[in-house]
Amino acid sequence: MASQQHRHVEVEGAGPPTRVFSTRRRLVAAFSVALAVFLLALAVQVLAFRRMEATFAALKELDEQLQLALRLESAVREQYAHQGLFVVESSRLRLDEYLKARADSLGLMAALGARLKDADALRWMAEIRQANQELDRTFQERVAPAAERRDGVAATAHGLAYPHVTVVEDRVDKVFARLREATAVRQQELVDTERTALRLLGVLAVAIPLFVAGAVAYLSRSVARPLAVLSRGAAAVSAGDLAARIDLDTPDEFGALAAEFNAMTVAVRQQQARLVESEKLAGIGRLAAGVAHELNNPLQVMLGYLSLNRDLPDRRLAGQLAATEDEALRCKRIVENLLELSRPTVDSAAVDLRGLSESVASGLRVALSQGCPDLSLAGTAQAQGDQARLRQVLFNLMRNAAEAAGPAGRVVVSIGARDGQAEVEVSDSGAGVAPECRGRLFEPFFTTKATGTGLGLAVSRAIALDHGGDIDVRDGALGGAQFTLRLPLAQERRT
Ligand SMILES: Nc1ncnc2c1ncn2[C@@H]1O[C@H](COP(=O)(O)OP(=O)(O)O)[C@@H](O)[C@H]1O
Ligand SMILES: [Mg+2]
Repeated sequence: MASQQHRHVEVEGAGPPTRVFSTRRRLVAAFSVALAVFLLALAVQVLAFRRMEATFAALKELDEQLQLALRLESAVREQYAHQGLFVVESSRLRLDEYLKARADSLGLMAALGARLKDADALRWMAEIRQANQELDRTFQERVAPAAERRDGVAATAHGLAYPHVTVVEDRVDKVFARLREATAVRQQELVDTERTALRLLGVLAVAIPLFVAGAVAYLSRSVARPLAVLSRGAAAVSAGDLAARIDLDTPDEFGALAAEFNAMTVAVRQQQARLVESEKLAGIGRLAAGVAHELNNPLQVMLGYLSLNRDLPDRRLAGQLAATEDEALRCKRIVENLLELSRPTVDSAAVDLRGLSESVASGLRVALSQGCPDLSLAGTAQAQGDQARLRQVLFNLMRNAAEAAGPAGRVVVSIGARDGQAEVEVSDSGAGVAPECRGRLFEPFFTTKATGTGLGLAVSRAIALDHGGDIDVRDGALGGAQFTLRLPLAQERRT
């Protein structure tokens, strides 16, 4: 059926869908924040760990320096003790032992001096080195020669060198104390870092679950709830309730989806109504065609006999017969129209709507003569269809308009193309369509005219639908009704 090719679907009450992809933005934002919080927590923990590692290394270094200082002190004491033993024994062995202790002291002083950072400590180290040099010089220059000579001066000189040892001891103690202070500072640092890291972990342990709970609640509100509403609406429609509407006007994808869904159900409803209408017309048409076909023959015979008696001398009888003939002609019109309802479109060619309208207008002017209103035409368009049937549609619309406008009124026919369809608008200056009639105009046999058949618009719409077009009615600019016939545009001619 041609009406199923009807592609232009008019949707009432649905504006252009606004596409705001805020759900995607919200999801991305929520996951980004979660990721950022997680990375921040990780970074803080890594930093704390690195800091603790550095502090541990510093503590180890300080401990080694403390060990070196302790060993240096005892090496210097040993140096002095070996000097004393050499004074007593003055043997080669004691001298070697002294030299070994001295080498130890020198090595330890070099090692410790290289590792100390503190300026005071470095100054004290210089004083230690100085005192140690003095100690050695006293031994080399005074104690050792006297001891080798077995001179009693050796013991005295050795006794006089002791203050150098006390200087070393004093400075080593100072270095030692400084190292201990630094150790205490580092240890406190370790405790502080650990405490800060733990505190932060505690805060995150509370904040992350709170954030996740909030995000889940928020997302379920903005995703799960609209999804539930959408699915309820879809379920209602699939259960057959085409009037179901989804009430969701959020400015996001769900709102857009709901709007499109609502537009879709409206379109389906309209399409269904059209189908029902056209099926109804076809049904009536088939039934009526059967009846009409049977009535046609007796009607022809009746009209034949009536025409034979036109010139009867009995004026009264002739008048009654003329009235009977009129009514019989009316029956014939009804029968012809009923036959139209089920007649298929036979031809499909490019139809010049302007030319066809002009020809219909001339015919109408002749038919109505004095009763014809001012009829004007404008515009052109080519439609695809059956010229004879489209002529009938234009005739019905223009005749109705002329009847509504009356002899003193105006009818304007404007032709053109819009939204990929050919259009003919027929407006008149009549009284318009009463609101209570508007829904029934296209029903077969609906008429408000004393001698009307009520089939003109029903037949016209059946023909329009059969072409894949339609007819609708609204208030026109001339004060009366405006009927708009839409048809497919003529296909491009291939050469
Ligand atoms: N141009 C019009 N202005 C006002 N009413 C109209 C117009 N065209 C049609 N109608 C209304 O629609 C009814 C049905 O029209 P139609 O199907 O052509 O049957 P009929 O003309 O035989 O009454 C008319 O009786 C009239 O009430
Ligand atoms: Mg009519």
